[in-house]
Amino acid sequence: MTANELRQKFLKFFESKGHIIIPSASLVPENDPSVLFTTAGMHPLVPYLMGEKYPGGSRLANAQKCVRTGDIDEVGDTYHHTFFEMLGNWSLGDYFKEESIKMSWEFLISEEWLGLDKNRIAVSVFAGDDDAPFDEESYAIWKKLGISEKRIAKLPKKNNWWGMEKGPCGPDTEIFYWAGNSNEIPESFNDDDVLWVEIWNNVFMQYNKTEEGKYEPLVQKNVDTGMGLERIVSAVNGFDDNYKTDLFFPIIEKIEEISGKKYGESKEITKSIRIIADHIKAATFIMADDKDISPSNLGQGYVVRRLIRRAIRHGKILGIESDSWTKEIAKIVAFKYKNAYSELPRNIDKVVNKFEEEENKFRKTLEKGLKEFDKIVRINFSELEKPFSDNIRPFQETYKLSGEEIFNLYTTYGFPLELIEEESKDRNIEIQKRELEKFNELLKKHQELSRTASAGMFKGGLADSSEETKRLHTAAHLLLAALRKVLGDHLFQKGSNITQERLRFDFSYPEKMTDEQKKQVEDLVNEAIQKDYEVKCEEMSLEEATKQNAMGVFKSKYGEQVKVYTIASPLGGEIFSKEICGGPHVSNTGELGKFKIQKEESSSAGVRRIKAILK
Ligand code: ALA
Repeated sequence: MTANELRQKFLKFFESKGHIIIPSASLVPENDPSVLFTTAGMHPLVPYLMGEKYPGGSRLANAQKCVRTGDIDEVGDTYHHTFFEMLGNWSLGDYFKEESIKMSWEFLISEEWLGLDKNRIAVSVFAGDDDAPFDEESYAIWKKLGISEKRIAKLPKKNNWWGMEKGPCGPDTEIFYWAGNSNEIPESFNDDDVLWVEIWNNVFMQYNKTEEGKYEPLVQKNVDTGMGLERIVSAVNGFDDNYKTDLFFPIIEKIEEISGKKYGESKEITKSIRIIADHIKAATFIMADDKDISPSNLGQGYVVRRLIRRAIRHGKILGIESDSWTKEIAKIVAFKYKNAYSELPRNIDKVVNKFEEEENKFRKTLEKGLKEFDKIVRINFSELEKPFSDNIRPFQETYKLSGEEIFNLYTTYGFPLELIEEESKDRNIEIQKRELEKFNELLKKHQELSRTASAGMFKGGLADSSEETKRLHTAAHLLLAALRKVLGDHLFQKGSNITQERLRFDFSYPEKMTDEQKKQVEDLVNEAIQKDYEVKCEEMSLEEATKQNAMGVFKSKYGEQVKVYTIASPLGGEIFSKEICGGPHVSNTGELGKFKIQKEESSSAGVRRIKAILK
C-alpha cells in the first residue's frame, strides 16, 4: 500500500464516521511565538479543544505536516524523522473514549481498511496518579475488544499523558505494532522493546494545564489522536524500516544515483543516506510553506540552515563531489508529495533557488573552515614537537579545542556546533565541557552585540561630558578589567550609572566579594592610574571589534561602526582594557586621582553592584 493510498483511506474512513476533513495547517504556527513549528495535528486546534465552536462540526480529521527538532540527533535510525505527517481525528466535545478506541481498532484491523494482524497489536493506558485516576474505562474497552491483559500496559504520566507546556491535555492510550518477525511475536507487551513500535496515540483531553501547572477540568471532553504516517505505512507493508516505504525510497534512489553509494551498503552509509533524505525533505517542506522561510541565523530559518548544512556534511561523507546537488533531492520530494500538498509544486522553483544559494554559501565557509581545523591541529602538534603528517594521526595525545577556537570556527567559518563536534571526533580532538561553557559565554556576548548592531541604532555616549564624569567613565573601564583579573573572566558588565560624584557599576558575579578581593581590585585600578596609561580611541566595524575581543556593554546601543577604547602603556606591552564604547574619556589614566570602592552589594540575582569614587 502506498502512502497516498493510506492517507486517502484514513480520511475516507473518518469521513464515513461523520468527520469533516480539514486541510493541513501551515508548518509555521499562527499567533504562537512560543514554538517554531507545528508539532502535532492538535496544535492549530487548541482554541476549539478549549471550547470555542469550530465552524462546520465537532468531528474533524486531517493529515497534518509536522516538524519536530527535539529528536534531530536520533535521525539516522529506522524510525525518527524531523518532518513527518500526522494523521489525526478529533472530537470536540462529541464522542469520547469508547467510540474513539473502537474506531481506531476498526480502521487498523478490518479487512476493508488496513487489515493488520490483531496478534501483532498491544496497547498501553494511563496508570493514574495524584492528578488523575487510572484510566479503567480504556482498559475495559481494550479487554472487551479482545486484547489480552498481558498486552495492556498500565504506564505513568511520562508515557501515557499528552499535552503541551500548558493548555488542553489528558491521559492517552497508545497502540503498538510488532515490527519484528512473525515467528517471534511476544505474548506480553514490553515498552522497552523497540520492535514494539508506537503507531497511534488517542488522547482524551479533558484537562487544562494552567500556567501554574495545575490540572483543571475542561468545559468539554475531547479526543485528539495522532498516527505517524511514515510508521503506519511501514507497518502495513511489513517493513522494519520507515525509509523503505515509498515516502522515502524515491528520495533515497536519487541520493544513491548522486553519490554512487548503495542504501544498506554499510551502517555508516545507510545512516548518512537517511539523514540526507530526512533533512532535505524537512527543509523542502519548511521553505515551500507559504510563509516563505529562507535559511538564516534566526528562528525557523536557522533550523533550515542547520538541516541543509548537516545534509551537505553527510553528502561529503558519502563522497558526493557535485557542487549543487541538494536541489536535485528537493525536486524529488516536491514530485513525490505534489498531490497531497499543492504548495510544493507551486513553490518548488523558489525552493530550488534557496537550496542552491545556501549550498554555495556553505561550501565556501566549509572549505575555509576545514582548512582552519587542520591548521589548529597542526600548529598544536608542532608546538608539542610531535611529528604530524596527513597520514599519520597522532593517537596518544588528544588535542583539546579551546572555547575561543570553537567560537572562531562557529562565527568566522559558519560551522554549526554539532559539525564542530563531529569533525573533532573524526580528528581525535577532545571538546571539554568547560570549553563549551566558555564558547557559550562568548557566543552570548557576540549575539548581544549583533542584536544591538542589527537594530541599527546609534553609538553610545554620555549625556553629561563634564570632566568629572569623563574621569569616572574611564575609571569604569579600569574597574571592569580589574574585576575580571581578580574574579575571573566569566564576569561581565551588567550596567553602569555615572553622576558627577560617583560611579555605580553592576556586574555578573554570584557571591559577595571579600575585603581582600575588593582591595586587590582597588590596587589594580590605582596601579593602572599611576602608570599613566594612554586611553586610545579607534573606529572600526563591530565585527572587527568582536574579533579583537573588545568588551561590550550590552545595554548600550551600537551601530555597525563602533568606537573601541584601548587602555595600555604607549610603549606597548600588556593591554589593560579594551572596550567598545561611545566615550568620551580622558586621554591618560594619570588624570584620575585615587580610586576608592565605597560599597559592594547585591543588585539582583547573580548581579553585584559597586559604588566607587575618585578622590
Ligand atoms: N497530539 C497527540 C500526539 O502528538 C495525538 O501524539
